[in-house]
Amino acid sequence: MRPTQHYFDLKLMNAASNIRFRANPGGALTGRIRVPGDKSISHRSIMLGSLAEGVTEISGFLEGEDSLATLAAFRAMGVHIEGPYQGHVRVHGVGLHGLKAPSQPLYLGNSGTSMRLLAGLLAGQAFDTELTGDVSLSKRPMRRVTEPLANMGARIDTAEGGTAPLKIHGGQTLQAIDYVLPMASAQVKSCVLLAGLYVQGRTCTTEPAPTRDHTERMLRGMGYRVDVNGANACLQGGGHLQATPIDVPADISSAAFFLVGASIAPGSDLLLEHVGMNPTRTGVIDILRAMGADIEVQNPREVGGEPVADLRVRSAQLRGIDIPPQLVPLAIDEFPVLFVAAACAEGRTVLTGAEELRVKESDRIQVMADGLKILGIDARPTPDGMVIEGGTLGQGQVDSHGDHRIAMAFAMAALRAAGPIDIDDCANVNTSFPGFIELARQSGLAVSLI
Ligand code: S3P
Repeated sequence: MRPTQHYFDLKLMNAASNIRFRANPGGALTGRIRVPGDKSISHRSIMLGSLAEGVTEISGFLEGEDSLATLAAFRAMGVHIEGPYQGHVRVHGVGLHGLKAPSQPLYLGNSGTSMRLLAGLLAGQAFDTELTGDVSLSKRPMRRVTEPLANMGARIDTAEGGTAPLKIHGGQTLQAIDYVLPMASAQVKSCVLLAGLYVQGRTCTTEPAPTRDHTERMLRGMGYRVDVNGANACLQGGGHLQATPIDVPADISSAAFFLVGASIAPGSDLLLEHVGMNPTRTGVIDILRAMGADIEVQNPREVGGEPVADLRVRSAQLRGIDIPPQLVPLAIDEFPVLFVAAACAEGRTVLTGAEELRVKESDRIQVMADGLKILGIDARPTPDGMVIEGGTLGQGQVDSHGDHRIAMAFAMAALRAAGPIDIDDCANVNTSFPGFIELARQSGLAVSLI
């Protein structure tokens, strides 16, 4: 398989000091589109495919920088991986004990999922590894994974403050733990369960609220027993994974930009095809519907253990709501664009219980509030959320702080803005949504690079 050639050279784009988007006002979103593959499932397909016995054929793989960082890490540990070629990847699994020591630190770019899941997986290897990342990733909290791993007997050094680089000392004998997560985090849950594959005994996690369960589903799909009982997930170490084909659905977190865009832009009628509808991910639909959005779920089906559907969204007058706190972990990546929906809604929207947003790729509460204020919206950040009064979006220059989801959220805001929105620091859109500009333009948003 020959790798896909990207229109923009990703490395060059990242090296460039400032990629800026200009989104011109007005327009409507129409037609049918398929957004790129699910990021969470793409990461896991490479990780578990590499550890499986046999060849894993992946289709719909996200060719974004984050999942490509995971792919490169496993290549560096001796796994033969063909592609990606138009979303197809072929992973020649080496089995749970077949990884080899990489010759240099594994650079994971902007990807928190790569770093936190790999920490768990590598804690039980016979060899040492070092995990590094970009400026944003190097500021993000890693104690949330190194602490439970230390309880299991892992030895991991962090920088002062519990951040990357992570130096993982191999050759440790890990013990099973029963870990009660202090925060709702699928990355922490997955990290502990992946370390549990290398433990003699039964490793369990208990989460304070439901979080995405792609790890549990894919492990099961590869024939590994995972006992899930409410908030509790347990697995016994020492089994093996059997390769199985993986069809990655379109990412609901990428679809979310278009769900909001079509809702706020009058005259919109857009069909989003083959969107992943895992119930641990659909909070954005519930929140938008509670705000009055017109979203129809068509042709629901199951593909390789994950629910999928087509989503038809038409414009609607949104109204402000108090976002139910139990929906927060089920929509955790969608708040940047949900804040834009709130800015276009009638009345007040109140978000609470979302302090995790402060430790994402950027502080998404502060950065979104700053940008919305520049655009003339009354957006008041709180320690764990935001209060937004719906209003009229003006125009101006906002800074995404290198956060892909902030950049795309402000691009969608232009559909209802009085004038152009210029967005700074947009190169990282390629981490999750390569081809965003092209697809957004195709559906009716006047966005371009400046
Ligand atoms: C992810 C889990 C979430 C999410 C991230 C992807 C995953 O992070 O924000 O984009 O693939 O497990 P947390 O576990 O920190 O909530």
